[in-house]
Amino acid sequence: MKLLVTTGGLVPADQWLDAFRAALPDCQVDPWTPGLPADYEMLLAWDPPSRLFSEQPRLRYVFNLGAGVEKLLELDLPEHVQILRLQDAGMAVQMAEYVCHAAIRFFREFDHYDRQQQQRLWHRRSLQQRTAFPVGIMGLGVLGSRVVEALRPFEFPLNGWSRSRRDLAGVRCFAGAGELGDFLAATRILVCLLPLTPRTRDIVNADHLRQLRPGGCLINIARGGLVVERDLRAALDSGQLAAAVLDVMQEEPLPADHWLWQHPAVTLTPHVAGMTMQDDTVDQVVAAVRAIRQGDTPPGIVDRARGY
Ligand code: NAP
Ligand code: GLV
Repeated sequence: MKLLVTTGGLVPADQWLDAFRAALPDCQVDPWTPGLPADYEMLLAWDPPSRLFSEQPRLRYVFNLGAGVEKLLELDLPEHVQILRLQDAGMAVQMAEYVCHAAIRFFREFDHYDRQQQQRLWHRRSLQQRTAFPVGIMGLGVLGSRVVEALRPFEFPLNGWSRSRRDLAGVRCFAGAGELGDFLAATRILVCLLPLTPRTRDIVNADHLRQLRPGGCLINIARGGLVVERDLRAALDSGQLAAAVLDVMQEEPLPADHWLWQHPAVTLTPHVAGMTMQDDTVDQVVAAVRAIRQGDTPPGIVDRARGY
């Protein structure tokens, strides 16, 4: 079998090629360059150019170098091409630490204490009731359910929302569009871990932000396209939302003149909440290649109709 690799700058290409060659000694592993022979069956890719697919009509399996597949789906690949995505691959624990850090920082008002320190102020604020800070996780899949587990010890009330109904101990689980309003009304710290699909694009909009408990915090570590940024700005400026912690934005890299850089209630990170880890990824792709060779169904197949 022949595997083509294009990492789109997400990870160091040479190092990853070496790791895949070592793990798949009976497979030819090559970096993609234009004009290669048109006989590759498998592709490992992040953000591949559409030209690659017209040059490689024998591709049958495309391994996405991340969890979110919206860019691959936009390419509208032929139906016989199976898209597989990474599941966890070392990202779930990173998502868990990111969300716990952001939620606790917000609840314990550490930003406020940072500002006090700059002014050499010794002033103790009274601690608020954590029952007044319910955390709602939108998306209870591989990453969202790991985040739920990590939040548990901190005893915030927990809500979860997904497309199909989930049953997670100690979590008020809501499902489908019909229960989104109840989920939002029960939530003060909103964590986005949804895939970006036609149904979820712009889901964090003025109407939905208004339904959250007042003085809350948005933590978006999924995709920028989930959030209507002008509506977020209005919610922050009005105080309806007290803070936003964003790892992903509509446009990445975020343009230097974007309002998000300077807003006092916004904390930004440059799409690093869940970084693709080499060893976990190699193990997962190798397991999928073995399954394919044995005629089994590999893990992580994307359902194109669902969009994730
Ligand atoms: P996943 O396992 O596929 O889980 C997706 C969850 O979203 C599922 O619970 C699913 O519901 C729910 N969902 C999908 N469409 C929905 C809808 N229309 N209404 C309600 N719920 C819906 O995905 P994952 O591995 O957890 O990853 C989630 C996303 O995180 C990825 O798609 C990617 O965009 C993002 N991500 C970001 C980073 C980063 O560094 N910032 C890193 C990795 C991933 P069901 O349970 O009913 O299927
Ligand atoms: C990163 O954003 C991913 O989808 O894995």
